[in-house]
Amino acid sequence: DTTVTVTPATLDFTAVPKSLADVVAVPSGYQVTVLYRLGDPINGTVGAFANDGTDTTYSARAGDHHDGMSYFGLAASGNAPDAGNSSRGLLVLNHENITQAYLHPNGATSSGGVRPTAEVLKEMECHGVSVIEITRGTGSWSYVATGSLNRRITPFTPTSFSGPVAGSSLLFTAYSPTGVAGRGTINNCANGTMPWNTYLTNEENWAGYFRRDTGDNARRTAAVGAKSTVAFARYGLSERTGNYGWTTAAAPAAGDTRIAKFNATIDPTKAANGIEDFRNEPNQYGWVVEIDPFDAASVPRKRTALGRMNHEGCVVGRTVPGVRPAFYMGDDAQNEYVYKFVSSATWAAADATATNRLAIGDKYLDTGTLYVAKLDADGSGQWLPLVFGQGPLAASNATYAFASQADVLTHARLAGDALGATRMDRPEWTAVNPVNGEMYLTLTNNASRTVATTDAANPRAYTDPKTTGGATNGNANGHIIRFRETGDSSESLTFTWDIYAFGAGSDLNPANINLSNLDATNDFSSPDGLWFARPSNVAGQGTPLMWIETDDGAYTDVTNCMLLAAIPGSVGDGAARTITNSLGGATASQTTRIGKAPGTTLKRFLVGPKECEITGIDSTPDGRAIFVNIQHPGENGSPASITSNWPQSQATGTGSGRPRSATIVITKTDGGIVGL
Ligand code: FEO
Ligand code: CA
Ligand code: CA
Ligand code: CA
Repeated sequence: DTTVTVTPATLDFTAVPKSLADVVAVPSGYQVTVLYRLGDPINGTVGAFANDGTDTTYSARAGDHHDGMSYFGLAASGNAPDAGNSSRGLLVLNHENITQAYLHPNGATSSGGVRPTAEVLKEMECHGVSVIEITRGTGSWSYVATGSLNRRITPFTPTSFSGPVAGSSLLFTAYSPTGVAGRGTINNCANGTMPWNTYLTNEENWAGYFRRDTGDNARRTAAVGAKSTVAFARYGLSERTGNYGWTTAAAPAAGDTRIAKFNATIDPTKAANGIEDFRNEPNQYGWVVEIDPFDAASVPRKRTALGRMNHEGCVVGRTVPGVRPAFYMGDDAQNEYVYKFVSSATWAAADATATNRLAIGDKYLDTGTLYVAKLDADGSGQWLPLVFGQGPLAASNATYAFASQADVLTHARLAGDALGATRMDRPEWTAVNPVNGEMYLTLTNNASRTVATTDAANPRAYTDPKTTGGATNGNANGHIIRFRETGDSSESLTFTWDIYAFGAGSDLNPANINLSNLDATNDFSSPDGLWFARPSNVAGQGTPLMWIETDDGAYTDVTNCMLLAAIPGSVGDGAARTITNSLGGATASQTTRIGKAPGTTLKRFLVGPKECEITGIDSTPDGRAIFVNIQHPGENGSPASITSNWPQSQATGTGSGRPRSATIVITKTDGGIVGL
């Protein structure tokens, strides 16, 4: 793209200081508007949000824990896309989880270990996705409370399966005996904006919601085989009650299994194929899900070709006509892998304006090859294919006895193990530099990284001392790694890598912790959200800025979570370096590859309110408004002990009432492009 060749020399704003205040702080010259909060009505059928725990019917309100988010331009009137419109659009965002206590008058209740059915259904309905229409009025943005495309997708919304696992016996359930349909989506973390105007929502920590009673491992091995038990363990589906005790609640009505389906315990009296109990329900989750936001009646499609894991997000690389596009994905758990999917279809630019959007999704997301990354100490790396019958992914595999491509994709983690992929420090968001195609990946932290298990790409193991809350160990502050595909091609099976920046307090040891020489203007911890500004933002002004969001617990004794802006460098602009790790009595050296210290090319742009995570980010095509999510302010409080009053506290730093996750809009007072 010839309009984006000159890198801006400086970040043209004054860094925001670290802060523990109960406000969203931005640089002078910028303003914050609160746009869309937990409980805000979206279709005219419910009243204003009381915010006292009495509210119900979240199918008609904003859900909780706003996360990944995309802006899609709408035509000036009507419901058709107009990708270039910066005044009217659809904002699509995830509601990952809940701050349970604030959803009820006096916190969650149970009686004799049994949760009230109404409380459980409410908590479920606060999860999922929102589609809302937003408009720029004279000077400020607002959401349209009765927009005709407004929609909530919840754990109850019908979904369909497509790709190689659709119809597999692994997906046979009472709800869909042929394994082609499911109900809802849950723990929707980061997003993906597809160039054909659809939204990807990614199912992350879904396993925790499932109940499995003591003894189910043995029962499962007897009824289904040891492979199922091994796979459930590998995916964190342990014998336990399940999040929030949902399955203790009584059914809403006879035959209503919306709650019961979260109990995957095998009933030995039921059919072995899973169509009479809920033994296969966990296989319905852990997928990338595609939504057409321009058709409120459309059924979300679970794209099984992209594998099953704790999907953080899914970002498409550069699209080049005639070349097969790549989609980059992290599996967010300690010591998990990074993946890319390469379509079988080559990119056709006309697809960007096609009206059969989910059919275009079928074309690019149902057929292709999933790869997992192996990073070598010399700064090179390989993409290893997850193809049944190749190498160890065969029936002859002594540990896993892979049975089919559906088996390989449903159990992508087992395939990654068999292939010898590199165990990373919690892969979160991916982002692609639209100028050179380099892929950046946040590795948020890893408390289980030891001196002995460090490698060149996950090179730190140390203790981060905190002034309050106790020390954090391992890779306590996280880092951001970046890959450059060989030949800058999305189709490449090899790449080079280095580490863009290591998170650290600026006061920590530069010899083995603060390796990127962060200072007071840019020190951060636990990078998570990651986004490159749209190229259209910066015509003639250079490489789009990269934005970094944090979800931290290690540095929160000093500062609330934050958003930083960066002028990125390039893979290989630094050098190999050997550091000495020391943790838990073990000491050893590790050689890694570190990019050029960011210095003034990385600057803190925003600090959030108390106990929040900063996550989700997009902008209008003109770059003059950016949308950011403030997730779970005051998450450690309760109705009896409220620990944040945001957003009511935004104007003055104090306020009253329960905190609410919310989307904000940031604009420049002079109307200019944000960050430049
Ligand atoms: Fe939902 Fe890994 O963050
Ligand atoms: Ca995240
Ligand atoms: Ca996180
Ligand atoms: Ca969170």
